[in-house]
Amino acid sequence: MTRFDAPLGEGFTGPHVRDGGQVVGTVGVGRRTPVLSLRQVSKRFGAVEALVDVDLTVHPHEVVALVGDNGAGKSTLAKVVSGVVQPDAGLIEMGGEPITIGSPSDAHQAGVATVFQDYALCENLDVTANLFLGRELREHSLMRDGEMERVARGILRDLTSRIPSVRTPIGHLSAGQRQTVAIARTLIGSPRLVILDEPTAALSVAHTAEVLTHIQRLRELGLGVVLISHNLNDVRAVADRIEVLRHGRNNGSFDARSVTQEELLAAITGATQVSRTHPLDAVL
Ligand SMILES: Nc1ncnc2c1ncn2[C@@H]1O[C@H](COP(=O)(O)OP(=O)(O)OP(=O)(O)O)[C@@H](O)[C@H]1O
Ligand SMILES: [Mg+2]
Repeated sequence: MTRFDAPLGEGFTGPHVRDGGQVVGTVGVGRRTPVLSLRQVSKRFGAVEALVDVDLTVHPHEVVALVGDNGAGKSTLAKVVSGVVQPDAGLIEMGGEPITIGSPSDAHQAGVATVFQDYALCENLDVTANLFLGRELREHSLMRDGEMERVARGILRDLTSRIPSVRTPIGHLSAGQRQTVAIARTLIGSPRLVILDEPTAALSVAHTAEVLTHIQRLRELGLGVVLISHNLNDVRAVADRIEVLRHGRNNGSFDARSVTQEELLAAITGATQVSRTHPLDAVL
């Protein structure tokens, strides 16, 4: 098992994994302190109300799926938490502390790592170079290639990835393997929260299963995970909780183990409307 904390050195605070796989925890966030809380977050693009008073809570060791029809506001929410888009109103807390995420760099500092819907990897660079793109490990301005390869191998192993070599150029990898690299990239830095926007949209059944395994590994590593997906089977297979957005508003919060496909579809299509109080908020 890789010791993420050792090789990455200064500035790297989590997740901490010891030999034997015991997760020690992520930067002192307790089990019940949410890693992320959004309260009444709103965002408008001109006349379009992309998000209206949206609440979302994610705990460490928890996969929260965000579902909803096209244009429901899912990617906008991901962008707000990633510092790409600024909300017009609302409160964001991380680890119980209010935070302003004014830029992608703020988000990175706060431990938010995102794989966007239209993620881009560099085709001509190898796996290691893509993992560390823009965050290369250096010593006296020289790149620490061996160290980066070692960390890259460790992260891929911990995600139970089947990528044969960290020196393979991205252009030689399958769509599923590229998604693995995009997910592995989120583990560079000090992640507390990983957001995945439609990570299985373009994948075959086999590659989808692999990505779902990676998501389970992220949860085992102690991270909070937001999984945005149109695929309700994927969502029910891997999520702990499912949050529905409809026309930019919360429209249901469900326990993934007990919710039925019909209940989810009804919330997504608007056949059922929920009051603003989330029943699960009381017990979480
Ligand atoms: N930069 C922008 N400028 C103007 N409108 C935008 C912008 N980004 C998003 N929107 C609008 O905000 C609404 C929410 O879009 P968003 O991309 O968040 O939806 P989504 O739930 O991710 O949809 P999809 O399932 O199709 O990915 C849509 O009406 C969209 O057209
Ligand atoms: Mg989207």
